[in-house]
Amino acid sequence: MRVLVLLLGVWLVNGEYLEHDQVASVPEGWHHAGQVAPQEELELTFALKQQNVDRLKQLLQLVSDPDSHQYGKYLTLEEVASLVRPSQLTEKAVWTWLRNHGVKNCRTVLTQDFLQCSMTAEVAEALLPGAEFHHYKRDNQTVIRSSAQYSVHSDVSQHLDFVGGVLRFPQRRKEVGKAWTGPSRSGNSVHLGVTPATLRARYNLTAADVGSAANNSQAVAQFLEQFYHPADLAEFMSLFGGGFKHYTKVDRVVGKQGGGKAGLEASLDVEYIMSSGANIPTWVFTNPGRHETQEPFLQWMLLLSNMSAIPWVHTISYGDDEDSLSTAYMNRINNEFIKAGLRGISMLFASGDSGAGCRHLSKENVFRPSFPASSPYVTTVGGTSFKNPFKITYEVTDYISGGGFSNVFEMPDYQVSAVSNYLKDEKLLPPVSYYNTSGRAYPDMAALSDNYWVVTNLVPIPWVSGTSASTPVVGGILSLINDQRFLKGLPSLGFLNPRLYKLKGTGLFDVTEGCHLSCLDDQVEGRGFCAAASWDPVTGWGTPNYPALLAALVEN
Ligand SMILES: *[C@@H]1O[C@H](CO)[C@@H](O)[C@H](O)[C@H]1NC(C)=O
Ligand SMILES: *[C@@H]1O[C@H](CO)[C@@H](O)[C@H](O)[C@H]1NC(C)=O
Ligand SMILES: *[C@@H]1O[C@H](CO)[C@@H](O)[C@H](O)[C@H]1NC(C)=O
Ligand SMILES: *[C@@H]1O[C@H](CO)[C@@H](O)[C@H](O)[C@H]1NC(C)=O
Ligand SMILES: *[C@@H]1O[C@H](CO)[C@@H](O)[C@H](O)[C@H]1NC(C)=O
Repeated sequence: MRVLVLLLGVWLVNGEYLEHDQVASVPEGWHHAGQVAPQEELELTFALKQQNVDRLKQLLQLVSDPDSHQYGKYLTLEEVASLVRPSQLTEKAVWTWLRNHGVKNCRTVLTQDFLQCSMTAEVAEALLPGAEFHHYKRDNQTVIRSSAQYSVHSDVSQHLDFVGGVLRFPQRRKEVGKAWTGPSRSGNSVHLGVTPATLRARYNLTAADVGSAANNSQAVAQFLEQFYHPADLAEFMSLFGGGFKHYTKVDRVVGKQGGGKAGLEASLDVEYIMSSGANIPTWVFTNPGRHETQEPFLQWMLLLSNMSAIPWVHTISYGDDEDSLSTAYMNRINNEFIKAGLRGISMLFASGDSGAGCRHLSKENVFRPSFPASSPYVTTVGGTSFKNPFKITYEVTDYISGGGFSNVFEMPDYQVSAVSNYLKDEKLLPPVSYYNTSGRAYPDMAALSDNYWVVTNLVPIPWVSGTSASTPVVGGILSLINDQRFLKGLPSLGFLNPRLYKLKGTGLFDVTEGCHLSCLDDQVEGRGFCAAASWDPVTGWGTPNYPALLAALVEN
């Protein structure tokens, strides 16, 4: 979009908005804490236009399709870099622009498609006409963001995807775990709660199903002001780690661990990925993006493009409303997922805890998909609960399980037939005005997400729930399968979806009961989609039956 920007009352700089559809208002919970002084230091992230993006997409399809002769022929980060790195023209245009504004202090990543530069607020505002930087506070956290849209000079607009650290606020601090909803949910009885033993029994993991391959690894990433405590993990394993070989320590922490109290979310992720993916070295990417102008999630993506050796499986519980993010930003983040997939890395995202979601428009309501859950290039994990709270029996929908259809990304080929079968056979579909059947549908699979026990600040806490519980559990199970593949000399599973959808449910317990939440209006009365035989937009293909899933995924 071309715009003319009024700069200090002087007409007119020729510029272009890179993210005209990015929500630029201050999200709830943040309050203004003063304008940034001209000499204050900011750090901005420039996403340079990449080369060969279409080629990368084709390659990803080949290396992730078990029927292709290129299946599993992954690239190194250096090989990915040689494909994506920006053209010399792009590098020159961006560097000239930055230097002309006196910006010199920049760092790049191995793939050279991001630049992170520090500069004063005065320089940043001259570089990005329209931007006006302010301090904002929420609880104990402070950030610097612009109160208005930014533009860039038309000389560089075609060389940049977006500028990070200007508009997007860190995600809302969402407490994991809906509070226990009381006896009404399970009759007049109290749930005994999910522990590693419960999960391992339900998903058919025996004591022998633990990691042993050299070089296997898995990771969780955290972006809120959230830390796990090593002592909590040790205590958790001493309470709940009986009966299977496991580690009691994280292998590597990337980033700065903060002080203070442990976070429930952080404790949950680490404790459960290390219980299902037992005895597998585990990394924690913690709270990257400490500078007040950084975007923590983006900062983590940069880190992945700057480290040649990273774990094979990553589980992440971060998500934003798709409608709050610019298409330019989401497309670029998708490219980053493609880069990871090409390296044989599996990216698992929680599907969210608001069912189909609800967005109130002026005349109507529509469902509200979340990103990256809606990305076609990640594996998205929904949630279930036990049908009978006292027994390890079959699973039904957890009504919070996020799911639905993207309004931004087209449905990828790998899921077309699964989704059209669901739409054709399902009797209880919500009115079509609420969602977009041409979009990427999610989740892809699921696991228990209800009533977990977590140790945090040395206290065992029951009733912790959410898809942030199911995601590390599935991540750990995929790591166990990677482990068996490595022992046979096979490559990692990488981007799983093309292969997962070809299994048509083999190796998974199909979840067929229950519906998830949506808008509380007269038309849908709080109901979103419902689980059904085979794939559905509530629990995907279902939950892992480890020995059967392993058998289906360990042959080539
Ligand atoms: C990427 O890694 C290199 C080498 O360790 C480092 O010099 C550079 O600052 C890193 N880039 C960023 C953006 O942090
Ligand atoms: C803010 O920090 C203070 C002191 O460090 C702490 O006691 C308080 O719990 C924190 N508040 C929040 C909401 O994190
Ligand atoms: C796995 O668990 C299910 C249900 O708990 C059970 O029916 C099945 O026999 C188990 N074993 C295998 C190999 O699937
Ligand atoms: C493990 O990684 C190291 C270093 O990256 C490599 O030299 C070694 O061959 C790997 N071992 C296996 C079994 O893949
Ligand atoms: C529906 O999704 C498609 C992409 O799959 C998109 O082009 C279209 O704009 C979406 N419609 C709405 C109403 O968001």
